[in-house]
Amino acid sequence: MSILPELERRFRRALAPVEEDPDPLLAMIRRSQDPKFGDYQANFAMALGKKLGRDPRQLAAEVAGRLSVDGFCQPPEVAGPGFINLRVRDDWIVDQLTAAIGDERLGVPAAAEPKTYVVDFSAPNVAKPMHVGHIRSTSIGDALARTLRFAGHRVVTDNHIGDWGTQFGMIIYGYRNFCDGEAYGQNPVGELSRLYQLVRRLIDYHAGKTRLAPLAEKLAGLESRLAEMHAEAAAEGKTGDKRVKKAIHRQQKDIDEAREELGELRAKLEAVEQDPELSKLAAEHPRIGQSVLGETSRLHAGDEENRRLWREFLPPCLAALGATYKRLGVAFDHTLGESFYHQRLRPIVEELIAAGIARESDGAVGIFFEGQDAPMLIRKKDGAFLYATTDLATLRYRVEAWQPDAILYVVDFRQSLHFENLFAAARRMGYERLELKHVSFGTVLGEDGRPFKTREGDAVGLESLLDEAVARARKIVEENDDAKPGGAELSPSQRARIAETVGIAALKYADLSQNRDSDYVFSYDKMLAMNGNTATYMQYAYARVRSIFAKGGVDAEALRASRPPIFLNTPAERDLALELLRFGEAVDYCLKDYRPNQLTSYLFELANCYSTFFENCPVLKAETPELRQSRLVLCDLTARTIQKGLGLLGIDVVEKM
Ligand code: ARG
Repeated sequence: MSILPELERRFRRALAPVEEDPDPLLAMIRRSQDPKFGDYQANFAMALGKKLGRDPRQLAAEVAGRLSVDGFCQPPEVAGPGFINLRVRDDWIVDQLTAAIGDERLGVPAAAEPKTYVVDFSAPNVAKPMHVGHIRSTSIGDALARTLRFAGHRVVTDNHIGDWGTQFGMIIYGYRNFCDGEAYGQNPVGELSRLYQLVRRLIDYHAGKTRLAPLAEKLAGLESRLAEMHAEAAAEGKTGDKRVKKAIHRQQKDIDEAREELGELRAKLEAVEQDPELSKLAAEHPRIGQSVLGETSRLHAGDEENRRLWREFLPPCLAALGATYKRLGVAFDHTLGESFYHQRLRPIVEELIAAGIARESDGAVGIFFEGQDAPMLIRKKDGAFLYATTDLATLRYRVEAWQPDAILYVVDFRQSLHFENLFAAARRMGYERLELKHVSFGTVLGEDGRPFKTREGDAVGLESLLDEAVARARKIVEENDDAKPGGAELSPSQRARIAETVGIAALKYADLSQNRDSDYVFSYDKMLAMNGNTATYMQYAYARVRSIFAKGGVDAEALRASRPPIFLNTPAERDLALELLRFGEAVDYCLKDYRPNQLTSYLFELANCYSTFFENCPVLKAETPELRQSRLVLCDLTARTIQKGLGLLGIDVVEKM
């Protein structure tokens, strides 16, 4: 049983006579910051007192008097201006823990009303290599799917891959014009991704050339305006004026930015021009941007040869994706990419027009929203359909196929407006009761605070990231093993296996432990630290428990079956026990707003409690055999909770490290 929901349930009854809508008040029941104030504290009396025009302390006393917590908490105490402090009874904690010993779910109840969730995550555009950004959607989405399942819900995961977009026009064009047949024969995906990058560079080159002059002009304009500002300030004797200084400062900043942009653009263009091969290709393919769009249109229109190429390219690309997912331990129930919906686009546009939800404007078709200048386009002037059109068709399909209560889209924050519009359109289509949620996330940054890129300015490939993390984990595992007092214990193949698990875990955990809305700085050293909020630390805590069992020759199964009495005689034991019972709470918090960092924070606190316990309470050398058994049970429950918690995050443990 989870403590917080239990408290909420009981407070709900106690609040009923004074408040009709207790939910906001129940949200004010929290863990106490200080053991002086018990384990949990209800802070609503002040807000409620204000609302009812009553003395909060009196109100708190009245509610506390009505609260029935017999057998669960000590009698509530009212403190300060009206806090209600609660201390959970030790015998209750012991009973719950004892029940958890024999429970697969570690005492966490399954949802009383299971719902159906569709989780849309990962969704890379195929034919381009996966890059660092994909780690976010993939890790967060997988963690949420696993946690929802554990919480008792029905979950359908769907990888909405981009297998129908412009990138296919790019590789078709690249294949026709630049393909190295031998390389393609040996490693089709490698060659296709080279072609993709090459075509991308050539398109960017020509687009960049046309941007050059306007950008230089803009910079010159900004600079001459700055000179004017200086002159005006001098003429009016306002050089010291705060406002004038601020305006000049702002202008200077705009100039710096424009200059930097121009510098970057020039460098990019130069890189192509100084490469004889590339500059030759660029000169030979001046209209490459247009041509690529043409290839994509022909593919969509059913051109035989382009369709044939598409069918040829797709399987090896999917196989490469599959290999990465396998390494990451991620699987999907469905992989219905954009191409799956292409026959459904025309009908849905027509239907939306007929229903008056979309309308024509300037030859294009869009859905218009109040307060927004631009509509969400669903058909272009030239008849092409858009990302939004596919998403509308996808939504319709998902509702019909799976009847979900909720659809989660785990996608980059840059697509916020797209999803806002999509959801608004969905409500107009009548999907009012469906929960639609953009589980948005920020950018992965390099140590310089800018989006994480290779030295050449490309996004960092996901495979190379995994390899590097594993290589570094390998070093840590080796050092650790070599430093063991009794000498190294692991064989080379064990070391390699552990390094793979530890490296990938570090990468995922580093991502999941961030507030997903924030950007975060990618650092191998931090993510693999043995101390701190890392997977490595959690895995180490787990392995440490297992090594105690090995050292003491303790059979965990037999220990569990014997259900020994649990003693909570020291603060460290009681803190650990209480923390163990908070697992269900962490799961609830994680799912409340789809934030896996609620789970990592919990696990980190649990590992810290365990650390304190371990320092203060001898286990194998406990004073009595009964105490030894009790402490072993606490160790075992800790290890199982860590294992389960990491498992919900898609992270494996290792028995030895
Ligand atoms: N393929 C898209 C991208 O790489 C993400 C798709 C997300 N899912 C969706 N239903 N729009 O940006």
